[in-house]
Amino acid sequence: MAEERKIRAGFIGCGGHAFRNVYPTFKFAPVDLIATCDLDESRAEEFARQFGAHRHYTNHLEMLEKEELDAVFIVTGYDEQNHPLYPPLAIDCMRAGCHAWIEKPPASSAAEIEEMMAVEKETGKFVLVGVKKAFFPAIQRMKEITERPEFGGVTSINVKYPQYIPNENEKVLEESVRMRGFLDHLVHPTSIIDYVMGPVRHIYYERSPNGGGVMSMKFMNDATGVLHFTAGRSGTSPLERVEVVGNGANAIVDNGVKLTYYRKGGRGEGGYGRATNFMGSDDEAPIYWEPEWSLGQLYNKQIFLLGYAFEVIEFAECVLEDRYPIRGCLASALELMKLYEAFQKPPGEVIVINE
Ligand SMILES: NC(=O)c1ccc[n+]([C@@H]2O[C@H](COP(=O)([O-])OP(=O)(O)OC[C@H]3O[C@@H](n4cnc5c(N)ncnc54)[C@H](O)[C@@H]3O)[C@@H](O)[C@H]2O)c1
Repeated sequence: MAEERKIRAGFIGCGGHAFRNVYPTFKFAPVDLIATCDLDESRAEEFARQFGAHRHYTNHLEMLEKEELDAVFIVTGYDEQNHPLYPPLAIDCMRAGCHAWIEKPPASSAAEIEEMMAVEKETGKFVLVGVKKAFFPAIQRMKEITERPEFGGVTSINVKYPQYIPNENEKVLEESVRMRGFLDHLVHPTSIIDYVMGPVRHIYYERSPNGGGVMSMKFMNDATGVLHFTAGRSGTSPLERVEVVGNGANAIVDNGVKLTYYRKGGRGEGGYGRATNFMGSDDEAPIYWEPEWSLGQLYNKQIFLLGYAFEVIEFAECVLEDRYPIRGCLASALELMKLYEAFQKPPGEVIVINE
């Protein structure tokens, strides 16, 4: 049997999220973990032991110098100013000859994304951002459905996500836990929106006194959308719902895993006031998918359902095939940062995102 090709990877960051959701994907991805790195040596050592790396480091530059790596995974978080640590670390990795996989949020500004893009050009290496929601199996299928001719093109989108919008006194990132939380989470719903609809032309948002609110969007393709910030919802409620509408068809992803495709069709033969049966023909009936929770299948693992394994596999395959990523690429991260920056402006005005 031909040996499977794997990327030789280093990993910067041995924290909670990496432990739960990123290192475990390597069992299912063409990734050979060579070295770990954390400022805390005991963590770096323990993660190396747990996940099978050969060596561990406390300084990423030393790891980059001593190891022969194809790529580096970076899951570190923020500096004291609440700025994500990813741009400088990813730049160090690219300049050392490695592709970089980074967690979200990728940066605190569009300018930092552009800096990374410039280093991609300079080095020929690339960055993939782990925007997990664009890799959810249900969202991947939804996107594919919207591209079918019978869907009729995307015309509008509605996303619900329980995000708090900071008030005007909470908007200085360097001083505000609220703004950091906003940066941390806004990329989740907006990565779905960008993946399914493409770039936004302009937005308008309003904020409720409790931090909930709505953002309306006009896309570059002339479609429209609403992001409903459902802050104030019960903690027992599913977090999210996505509905995309085409022409005579629509698709809904509920709770990240339940996909309903309402194909083109009608019901109630006989016309209004006369129809006696709400069901139409089978070939027009809605298609509904949800996981079964019985079999020991990979698809029932949360690292697959929530996209983590797919974002890592995609990255590793891009490295092996020398292919620039589409989902999670920096051009897409740039769009997410432009939307984040729009919220630095007060509510109640039209804010141009792309001319
Ligand atoms: N996609 C998701 O579902 C999801 C969920 C949770 C967290 N996250 C993201 O994951 C990231 C990490 O979150 P966390 O909760 O695991 O944080 P954490 O604090 O538990 O882990 C971060 C680790 O990085 C290490 N670190 C920081 N700077 C370093 C450096 N320069 N070199 C080496 N090691 C360094 C820290 O010592 C720490 O061990 C954040 O960006 C967060 O937004 C994503």
